[in-house]
Amino acid sequence: MSSDATVIQFTIRQDGEDTLVRTRTHDYRNLMVLLNNHCYLENFGECGGMGRCATCVVKLSGKETARTDRHRNEQATLDRSGITDPAIRLACQIPITPALNEELIEIINDMC
Ligand code: FES
Repeated sequence: MSSDATVIQFTIRQDGEDTLVRTRTHDYRNLMVLLNNHCYLENFGECGGMGRCATCVVKLSGKETARTDRHRNEQATLDRSGITDPAIRLACQIPITPALNEELIEIINDMC
């Protein structure tokens, strides 16, 4: 384990049911990988984390930093999908960092 691994805790909401998740900064490549491991989702993250398919959308409720720290082509993919809500992000573009601490992360894969 890396010496800078920090414990991160947040809630995942799927189909109205909440699950508390505890992880560390370097345990998963990104939030999409973590969600696929924890929730066994069908057709979630079809492009494998390239930020192009928008099948990994989640809605964040919590700190502003997690909502605004967008990477690579995330905004273009959200725009192309007609998603304008700033709280909605691509899970594959969200690194597992302390910015996720105490977030509520809602899986909304029915938007795709
Ligand atoms: S896995 Fe395709 S956009 Fe996230």
